Formats: sequence, C-alpha cells, structure tokens
Amino acid sequence: MSGDLAAGARVALADRLAEAGVLDAGWRGSFEAVARHLFLPPVYWEFVDGAAVRRDQGTDPEEWLAGAYRDTAAITQWDDGDEGGGQRDFTSSLSMPTMVARMLGDLDVEDGHRVREVGTGPGFNAALLAHRLGAEQVVSVEIDEAVARCARGNLAAAGLGGVEVLLGDGADAAVGADGVDGVDGRADRLIATCSSLLTDVPVAWLEQTVPGGVIVAPTATLFGGGATARLRVADDGRSASGRFTGAADFMRMRQQRYQAPPVDAYLPGEWPGDATPSLTGLDPEDIGDSWLAQFAIGAALPDLYYRRAPYRDTVTWWFFDTAVTSWATVDSVPGQAEFDVRQTGPRRLWEEIHTAWQAWDKAGRPGYDRFGLTVTTAGTRTLWLDNPDHPWNPTAR
Ligand SMILES: C[S@@+](CC[C@H](N)C(=O)[O-])C[C@H]1O[C@@H](n2cnc3c(N)ncnc32)[C@H](O)[C@@H]1O
Repeated sequence: MSGDLAAGARVALADRLAEAGVLDAGWRGSFEAVARHLFLPPVYWEFVDGAAVRRDQGTDPEEWLAGAYRDTAAITQWDDGDEGGGQRDFTSSLSMPTMVARMLGDLDVEDGHRVREVGTGPGFNAALLAHRLGAEQVVSVEIDEAVARCARGNLAAAGLGGVEVLLGDGADAAVGADGVDGVDGRADRLIATCSSLLTDVPVAWLEQTVPGGVIVAPTATLFGGGATARLRVADDGRSASGRFTGAADFMRMRQQRYQAPPVDAYLPGEWPGDATPSLTGLDPEDIGDSWLAQFAIGAALPDLYYRRAPYRDTVTWWFFDTAVTSWATVDSVPGQAEFDVRQTGPRRLWEEIHTAWQAWDKAGRPGYDRFGLTVTTAGTRTLWLDNPDHPWNPTAR
C-alpha cells in the first residue's frame, strides 16, 4: 500500500466509523488526516477475534499497513516490555478506532480547549487531539518510559511533536502539576485511555480539570465488565458526576492490576473441603454471557472475582474474595435447571452474587446509561442507578 493508498484507507476507515454512527462530524477531518500507521512499530500484534495476530513490516508490509486501517486494536508492548516474559499480558496498544472515536465524541471538545490525556501509548489519540485543537493544547501522561519515548518519536514523525508527553503516573496530582499550558492551568477536558477500578477512579483528575470540565474515563470492576464514564466536574470543583456511555474494555492502570493469590491459599486441601452444598437456579454461564451483568455485580461487590474452569461438558465457576476468607463454586451443566453450589468461609459468596444479579434483573436489567458515578475530592466513589441519590448497593447489609 503506497502513501496514496494509505490516505484512501484512512478515508475508508473514517467512512466505516461514520456509518456505524461512532464518528462525530467534528472528528472526521482528524481521522482522515492523521496517519495511524505512523504510530505502529515494525512488529505489532493485531487483535482479531480475541487472538493476537503478528504483523511484521519486514515480511508482509501489505498486511502490516492494512492492519493499521482496520477497526482493530494493535498490541505494541507485552509484559511491560519484558522480552523474556513470554507474551503473557499486553501492556500497551493502539486502541480500537471505534473506541477512540466514541470516547473523543464523549469528550465534547471545543476550539481552544486544553486536554490532558492519561495513557499515551503509541500516541495516536494524542495526535488526533493535537490535530483538532493544536499540539500546544495537549498534554499526555505515560507511565512506561520506553512507551513515552516512542510516542514522542511517533508524534514528531506525524508533524505533531508539540504535544507534551510526560513520564509518570497519571493518577498522581504532582505529574504535570503545572497544567496543560505550563502555567498551572487546569485542563478543560481529561481523557484516560487506561481503565481504573470503579473504587479507585483517581481523585487527582478532579483537581486537574476546570469546574464544568469533562472527564471521560474507562472504568472496570474486578469481577469483570467495564464501561466508559463521562463525568462533569461540579462548579465548586469538589466532585464530578455523570453517567456511563457504553461498554469499555481497556488495559488497567498499571498500579491497579490485581494479582490473584493461588487457589490453595483459599482451599489448601481437596475440593470441596468443608464447603456446604446447595442448589441454585441461576446458571453462572448467564453471568459470563453478559458483560453488563458482570459490571452490575462487580460494582455491587467490588472485592470479588471469578475464574471459569471448563472440564468436559461442565464449567465450574469459582468465586473468591480478595481478603482470602471465602470461596464458592457453581457447576454449570448444559440443559440442567439447577446447578450444584459449594460455599465456605464467613461469607456466602454465591448468595451475594445471586442477590446482586436479582437486583439488576428486577430493576429491568438496566444498561450502562442508567448507571452513573460520582467521585469526590474527599475520595468517595459512588456508583448509582438512575440518579445520584440512589446508590447501587443491592447487597448492603
Ligand atoms: C491502551 S494504551 C493507550 C492507547 C492510546 N492512548 C492510543 O492512542 O490508542 C494504555 C496506556 O496506558 C499506560 N498506563 C498504564 N497505567 C498508567 C498510569 N498510571 N499512568 C499513565 N499511563 C498509564 C500504559 O503504559 C499504556 O501505554
């Protein structure tokens, strides 16, 4: 694909995003102008149907370039750059164009706005912001030194080297404390492109954004399920509140990654140990099938997580608490109406999960747009349903 073909591919990608209804007219020019392939290294992994497919410019330049203009994420770093890590986790990427377009739409920028980005990655999102608003209006914070260095190079190659890329933790108020304009100015808009747990959305972002400003951030729960929050900072600057705009699955902020203990920390002997048996009518696979249900459960029970263990035609679902006091299993067998449960510890984890599921079901299975989040400078994060006076805590005792 030559330069002209790449220009055609950019327009074609913009067309597809516009047809899908995710690209606001105001962003179209930037998507057509900024060459996404300039933000890709000679080898990257295109994320296709849940699998990472290697794209090597040296051996297949056509596919390497074509992948840049498909609506897929491109993995650009594994295991925080640990070459011997065996490619376990991806730790930096170019986000999927649909998500980039959606979140930039949510940001609702106007000419003259100053924007802070958290999670520069290879720098494509920062480049789009810089193209639309001017490079000097954009500051981006990246925690990984090699990624930050690479982003600066990519932005310069795209003619947008004026974007300031800061090395540091985007949750730290001290990073870039002199503001987007370098003179203590707060941003009008803040966009994060790495996710934070609902219970840990950085408070620093309130202090870094003007009253009336907008924060767009992907959030996640330990249980699973994530959504983009769109928060407006209150006039007094002491809180930010708003609804979710849709599903989001972003890599977690580095300091918020969770390393689960081994199963034998919960169950030193043979399963089922001293666990109590019971039956349930709720198939855990129904939870697994719904990203939204996982979000609703995870928001209600922020210290729980699960593992799914398929064996022949049975899928055993394991549920754990982070305090390592309790666990539960539920066996999902196709065609059954009731499923075997085992629970042990001071908490009855399956009952808690079932209660949260029922509350979500009874509320009419609300979508992301009925949920909202309020974050305060005092450090509270409250998830709510329909309005801020209605906290989502169906399992509160
Ligand atoms: C999905 S990538 C960013 C995508 C990118 N903005 C784009 O243009 O497509 C997420 C990035 O967030 C970075 N990151 C993770 N935790 C961070 C933190 N606490 N502060 C700043 N950056 C962080 C990662 O190193 C990674 O490069």
